[in-house]
Amino acid sequence: MDTTVTMSGLDGVVVADTRLSEVDGERGRLVVAGHDIERLAGATAFEAVAGLLWSGALPQGEALEAVRRALAEGRVRAFEQLQAAELPRFADGMDALRAATARLTAEDGFDTPARLTGAVAVYAAAWARVRAGGRPLAPDPQLSHAADYLRMLTGEPADPARVAGLETYLVTVADHGMNASTFAARVVASTGSDAVSAIVAAIGALKGPLHGGAPGPVLDMLDAIGEPTRAAQWIEAELAAGRRIMGMGHRIYRVRDPRAAVLEGALARLEQAGLANGRLALARAVERAAEGALRAKYPDRPLAANVEFYTAVLLDAVGLDRAAFSPTFAAGRVAGWCAHVLEQRATGRLIRPASRYVGPAPHA
Ligand code: COA
Repeated sequence: MDTTVTMSGLDGVVVADTRLSEVDGERGRLVVAGHDIERLAGATAFEAVAGLLWSGALPQGEALEAVRRALAEGRVRAFEQLQAAELPRFADGMDALRAATARLTAEDGFDTPARLTGAVAVYAAAWARVRAGGRPLAPDPQLSHAADYLRMLTGEPADPARVAGLETYLVTVADHGMNASTFAARVVASTGSDAVSAIVAAIGALKGPLHGGAPGPVLDMLDAIGEPTRAAQWIEAELAAGRRIMGMGHRIYRVRDPRAAVLEGALARLEQAGLANGRLALARAVERAAEGALRAKYPDRPLAANVEFYTAVLLDAVGLDRAAFSPTFAAGRVAGWCAHVLEQRATGRLIRPASRYVGPAPHA
């Protein structure tokens, strides 16, 4: 008799030892390479967190400058490889990002974290520009990664407060345990394949609405609700129709996702600077209503706001179109994907789980 248990979602299955990040779902804590996310986000440049993930220590001084230069060079080299004429055929930003990234090769130098992280930012921004009717803007290597991304994407010189909001976001999402896209990247890396292939697989996994595709729909939901007073009724109707509330629930967290608080704080800072979109109060009301309704429906399974909930409102306030939200998630998470590719390569072990056969017995 087959006594193996089928773990269809691999819940709780440990597939790797990692030094990169720890997600404590019970206490709602995210530690990135020895640093609580609350201490990094809002206080640390994306370059520094990328360097932390890639080298294990927060770079300072010349080491930080070296990461900055490498990322800038990655953006410049990626722009040289961009086939901009192909972008208009992609209605979806993640499709465009996947296709543009897939053109890169290790032979052209795209086998380092900085090159690949630079490339994802350039291609995400280029697609957003083309979609808005413009032409892709060449990178400015003098700017920080976050500032240059925002400038390439919006076509305008980036406002410092908005850059700070975006940078907080990029840092907050840079790594998050063994999430689905990171796992996809590690599976590809474990076969001995190249880093471009691993990142392309990860982009494909991130695209799904159960992973990185949620923030656009969160904003759609807030628009549909419109007024805080309508939140409870709207949420009830969605649940009654059997639909999921986007931005709520998480595979690991049994409490509110700590990243939701970090992004909510960044949004509040933008609001204080007079740059927000007036949606913070609505978002808070919808979150309260959704949490209450989900608690009533699933009393044994705490379902609270996840990172996507405030991502939507923050990135909107930063000036991004909702179609660019998922590609921007990729622009942050690629730093973690690259670090996991390096870590996986170092193990040298193929990831190859098993399945249980439930098909028909062989014909006699
Ligand atoms: N809205 C409504 N119901 C939800 C829900 C949500 N956001 N999240 C979970 N549930 C329900 C599930 O349908 C399940 O109900 P069932 O037993 O009747 O099928 C129950 O709550 C338990 O779900 P759980 O096992 O905890 O979910 P999961 O671990 O498979 O899924 C997510 C986690 C993130 C995929 C899920 O919460 C979800 O779809 N959230 C909305 C999408 C989203 O915000 N994604 C971004 C994640 S960072």
